[in-house]
Amino acid sequence: MRARLLASGRGFEGALAPPGDKSISHRAVLFALAARGRSRIRNLSTAEDVAASLRFAASLGASVELGEEVVIDSRGLGALAEPGSVIDVGNSGTLARLGLGVATMVPGLSIFSGDASVSRRPMARVIEPLRRMGALIEARGGVRLPMAVRGSRLSGQELSLVIASAQVKSAILLAGLGASGETRVTEPVLTRPHTEEFFALTGIEFEEGYEGKRHFVVLAGQQEPNPVDLEVPGDPSAAAFFIVGAACSPGSKVAVSGMYRGETRGGFLAVLERMGMSWDGSGAGATRALSGTDVEPAEVPSLIDELPALAVAFAAAEGRSSVSGAAELRVKESDRISAVVEMLGRFGVAVEESPDGFAVDGGLESVPRSRVVDSRLDHRIAMSGAILGCLAGGETVIEGVESVPTSYPGFFDDLARLAGVSVELS
Ligand code: S3P
Repeated sequence: MRARLLASGRGFEGALAPPGDKSISHRAVLFALAARGRSRIRNLSTAEDVAASLRFAASLGASVELGEEVVIDSRGLGALAEPGSVIDVGNSGTLARLGLGVATMVPGLSIFSGDASVSRRPMARVIEPLRRMGALIEARGGVRLPMAVRGSRLSGQELSLVIASAQVKSAILLAGLGASGETRVTEPVLTRPHTEEFFALTGIEFEEGYEGKRHFVVLAGQQEPNPVDLEVPGDPSAAAFFIVGAACSPGSKVAVSGMYRGETRGGFLAVLERMGMSWDGSGAGATRALSGTDVEPAEVPSLIDELPALAVAFAAAEGRSSVSGAAELRVKESDRISAVVEMLGRFGVAVEESPDGFAVDGGLESVPRSRVVDSRLDHRIAMSGAILGCLAGGETVIEGVESVPTSYPGFFDDLARLAGVSVELS
């Protein structure tokens, strides 16, 4: 499926209430499944990835009622049911990894499969620590989906992660809820702490702190969360596309409401502000062209999902920008370093690829011509290409836009409204 966009040249203007945060929505559903009783979740993401988590919860025995408020009734961790068929995670790496952590507690066999993209993604990072806790897991080639887990009694361990990954940390912590004894996980830097936020929200006893820069969480085993009652905040990773659009078009203003504001998700705002975006806490705009900047390795975990959108800002900025220490981008929904390099090239922007990042010489030629972007079926590449198309002017065709609803089903409606673009989907 492709989107043909005709830019309006009028910049970005209007109000945006971003959809419910995808990371938080996955966890809301998994914690509701783990709790005994009725959970109520408002503003749950309508992304296809989250729908896969809802199906996962249903296949493990929860009853799910959709609506303005999503109501999930579960019998809790102690009464999870063996799924009757293969669990399809769709495109979702988060469900593959966090779901595996939960499935270690399900009596019997849970088998996970997913689409071509998620089936290429590395799973050893989550399989190995779970095996150290005693989990019985088999995977294709030892390291990829499809994978199968047979529920067993785990024992808490001390695990020290080399890769900064909130998904891996969360899978271990979820498995730790059912384990005997204490689970202690340390990560190189604090990654998005949504699982810890849900521990606090649902009455789980845990401790966290720092050893130098390393962040640790300690959790006593054999705990069951209380039901969830939550309004999911708006997704900064979705809002980022329009914030970048506004920041790159002097005279624009996009007012953003209800967005999650934790620091671990706000790295892209700090980068855009130092490039010259005006941000008053709830609205993005610009009075001048942005200037280039270097994104340092230490910043990467706080903006990993926003790097494709930031690449758009680098293309539109004056001067050189670079990213390093972001090799993880190569194992996302696509190889996002290679995809970003190819995308910017389609717009005539000079970009250099390195093993762990890229460097961009800003200066988007805004000549009204047409170009085609291959999104590689990666939602964040497709949406970044669309914003870049608006900034460049003329006509842009994005191939593979069927990926967009995996995180942001309303994206093209919001794009038409905020950027005055004409969008034709075919
Ligand atoms: C996520 C963690 C990040 C992020 C992903 C969502 C999560 O992945 O890129 O989109 O919800 O925990 P990693 O843990 O692989 O860094």
